[in-house]
Amino acid sequence: MEGFIDLLPKVELHLHIEGTLEPGMMLELAKRNQISLPYQTIEQIQAAYDFDDLQSFLDLYYQGAQVLQNEQDFYDLTWAYLQRCKGEHVMHTEIFFDPQTHTERGIAFDTVVNGIWRALEAGREKLGISSHLIMCFLRHLSEEAAFETLKQAMPYREKIIAVGLDSSEQGHPPEKFRHVFQQAKEAGFLTVAHAGEEGPAENIWNALKILQTSRIDHGVRCTDDELLVNHLVASRVPLTVCPLSNVKLKVFSDMSQHNIAELLEKGVCVTINSDDPAYFGGYMTANFTAVATAFKLSKTDIAKFSQNAIEASFLQPEQKAALQQRVQHYLNMHLKPII
Ligand code: ADE
Ligand code: ZN
Repeated sequence: MEGFIDLLPKVELHLHIEGTLEPGMMLELAKRNQISLPYQTIEQIQAAYDFDDLQSFLDLYYQGAQVLQNEQDFYDLTWAYLQRCKGEHVMHTEIFFDPQTHTERGIAFDTVVNGIWRALEAGREKLGISSHLIMCFLRHLSEEAAFETLKQAMPYREKIIAVGLDSSEQGHPPEKFRHVFQQAKEAGFLTVAHAGEEGPAENIWNALKILQTSRIDHGVRCTDDELLVNHLVASRVPLTVCPLSNVKLKVFSDMSQHNIAELLEKGVCVTINSDDPAYFGGYMTANFTAVATAFKLSKTDIAKFSQNAIEASFLQPEQKAALQQRVQHYLNMHLKPII
């Protein structure tokens, strides 16, 4: 199965660009920008990545992001991720960025977007990887701060396809951001939100009903509510699930306890994504492999994750059709009996 997964054409829909900051690059950028970190070696950083829950991860993640200072740093970070994509047959990626993580410490919004955007353009031209950019509001901050961020994003309306919601879910439900999401929608942005990662199924309902999101990021707690699962199946609202992240952050005790195979079987539009791969032990191929190893899935099942991701993406219908054809062709080649 691993050979099949390696070369399977993939689409990623849940990836925080700040979460691709590998320990080696963190140390390099700290040196380049004269930022002091509580670590001296890659091993020390890796040893610190032992999380109890989402918040314990976020504390280190925001600390790590401080080494990102200049446009070139954001370019280098994004370019390194895109090269990983190339190596793992990720054909299209929809990337989150957290402007407030940077603007709060005095880095200009333009510095962040321009660096990421320039790398995405190079990815399209030099690597043939298509991409979209999604701007997340940090939910532990106020709705007023999110409004300020939305205002900063307006000149980049053509470069940012959607707004999202991330950071600490506990105590910061979707409805806290009702008005800013409404304004973002009116300005033409699509909407997504992290919901039902650590928080209850009710957050998924409220993201759908109040924020009118096109997708739910994570959403694994939906299985606490049978009506919700039925709704997800009928509506085909996608879940961007991140298996290695969920185990690392103890949403599930073990991959064998994860509900992704059950959701696939029930007909929910579930997808596999890497979330913060530098922190959680792997990119797309590692996530697919972890799921395939934990559950008895066929090649058809595994390919369905790619087919769902294409359906769930913000690509145009003709782009979706072209990618679906590539996946179907790949699957057919691997299902054909060898004579
Ligand atoms: N920011 C980065 N990764 C996140 C996650 N898994 N949940 C919420 N916010 C995040
Ligand atoms: Zn996430």
